[in-house]
Amino acid sequence: MQISNLLISSTLAVLASASLPVINTTGNAFWNTETGERFYIRGVDYQPGGSSNLTDPLADESICSRDIPYFQELGINTIRVYTVDNSLDHSACMNALDDAGIYLLLDVNTPDSSISRTDPECSYNSAYLQSVFATIDAFAEYDNVLGFFAGNENINNENTTNSATYVKATVRDMKKYLSARDYRQIPVGYSAADITSNRYLAAQYFNCGNDSDARIDMFGVNDYSWCGSSSFTQSGYSQKVENYKGYSIPIFLSEYGCNTAEVDGSRLFQEVKTIYSTKMTGVFSGGLAYEYSQETNDYGLVEISSNGTSVTILDDFTNLKSELNSTSNPSGNGGAVSTYSYSECPTYEAGIWEADNTLPDMPSAASAYFTSGAGEPLGTSDSTELQCDSSDDDDDDETTSSTSASSSTSASASTLTSSVTSSTSSTATASSRASSSSKALGVTNFRVPIILELLFSIFENSFVFGFSIVILTVGVVLVI
Ligand SMILES: *[C@@H]1O[C@H](CO)[C@@H](O)[C@H](O)[C@H]1NC(C)=O
Ligand SMILES: *[C@@H]1O[C@H](CO)[C@@H](O)[C@H](O)[C@H]1NC(C)=O
Ligand SMILES: *[C@@H]1O[C@H](CO)[C@@H](O)[C@H](O)[C@H]1NC(C)=O
Ligand SMILES: *[C@@H]1O[C@H](CO)[C@@H](O)[C@H](O)[C@H]1NC(C)=O
Ligand SMILES: *[C@@H]1O[C@H](CO)[C@@H](O)[C@H](O)[C@H]1NC(C)=O
Ligand SMILES: *[C@@H]1O[C@H](CO)[C@@H](O)[C@H](O)[C@H]1NC(C)=O
Repeated sequence: MQISNLLISSTLAVLASASLPVINTTGNAFWNTETGERFYIRGVDYQPGGSSNLTDPLADESICSRDIPYFQELGINTIRVYTVDNSLDHSACMNALDDAGIYLLLDVNTPDSSISRTDPECSYNSAYLQSVFATIDAFAEYDNVLGFFAGNENINNENTTNSATYVKATVRDMKKYLSARDYRQIPVGYSAADITSNRYLAAQYFNCGNDSDARIDMFGVNDYSWCGSSSFTQSGYSQKVENYKGYSIPIFLSEYGCNTAEVDGSRLFQEVKTIYSTKMTGVFSGGLAYEYSQETNDYGLVEISSNGTSVTILDDFTNLKSELNSTSNPSGNGGAVSTYSYSECPTYEAGIWEADNTLPDMPSAASAYFTSGAGEPLGTSDSTELQCDSSDDDDDDETTSSTSASSSTSASASTLTSSVTSSTSSTATASSRASSSSKALGVTNFRVPIILELLFSIFENSFVFGFSIVILTVGVVLVI
């Protein structure tokens, strides 16, 4: 009796934690694969601590369980997290989010492990891919992962467009890794800064070419153009809908919420009614308000006490909640289109668009991960940006390249509007300075996990071989 009660209750527990339906992309929209309904992102960007106190909010149940009730009160269905520590366990928070009906958009980079704006070629190396793939390993099993961002605002002005080549190569490698490891084909995207001179070129570039692995599956735009009491036309949204029309994959606002025209010290969030209206939904699939917690850049919806235990709702929270609650999604498919084809590749033009339509091959050392997984996750302290692969770069002056990387990384940070955003590449400044000295000492890129993984991969596929080695060893010991 007791045993069967136990069985029943554990069966119920399994049923109770049944996961959210997977969301896929078809044409230029997201879809709920169980109900067949269109899915609109109603989200909030979430990185409490910001860039000054980078914490993984999904690895600490006391943090995520403190905040999830507020997500529910806002009525959101998605959060975006900019940096996680892939060496930690995320199951408690991922399951709690799932129970609350919330999906995750996850950036796979960390401040010290991302594609650098100043030396993108060097930063695209096998150690970097190990970090990215280990993050995929840590999250791919969760059905409520809506998508991965391979990069965030790598292009942040007119003259960082060549970094797109290496971000696109990372997109390709991530998509190939998902297939090679038999994971769900989770959408992989790029989140773009709103740069007047190249916003449409970037959108085209990431969705162009006949290699479907190299094309992104979704495009996020960080857009702060609707300020205060504005309108569809005054904000420039109307022009963007016009210009992005015909784009074949989902686009959404990966950050919105301009704070330069507040009314009585708070944001009105009146853009919400427009974002979820049919004026927009034929092209856009919703968005995420920037950002949950109040940090020094003053974009918070709530204030978190310095001891981390209490959350105070700000007027921005109340306004966003009320706008979301009084705005339904359009009925039917909202104008989604599935017949557009991918974009034409933009042509190279010095000073305007300098990304290459021929992508670099994946660093050869990274192919081991395809057969045996990424191996040991090394967490946020793993610093890969300056680890050029020697096989790809025959004559690299480590000292020179690291000095220039640090100085221009901090220069580009000052041009950014939002600071968590910049954290992905720009908090790197301090730590890349610190790490450059150790890199200069040892160029040898010795990574134990790869060697262990290679050994495992030898034995993994050949149980019989492993077994006979055991027999042999026992035999030898007995003989001795
Ligand atoms: C995505 O899900 C929708 C709804 O279930 C389905 O109609 C569509 O075929 C799916 N697309 C892909 C690419 O699996
Ligand atoms: C950083 O965040 C952690 C976790 O929320 C918190 O315990 C710590 O006090 C914070 N540190 C600072 C300097 O705010
Ligand atoms: C890059 O562009 C910015 C303007 O967006 C300019 O201030 C800066 O000097 C340029 N840097 C280089 C190296 O050309
Ligand atoms: C894809 O495009 C490249 C470059 O334009 C070309 O060399 C290749 O043949 C094309 N492949 C297919 C399958 O169309
Ligand atoms: C944490 O800070 C809040 C607000 O400052 C205070 O009300 C609460 O008592 C503090 N909790 C602890 C455990 O110190
Ligand atoms: C608004 O809030 C009510 C009460 O919580 C809820 O039933 C309703 O679904 C919400 N509407 C929208 C559009 O979120």
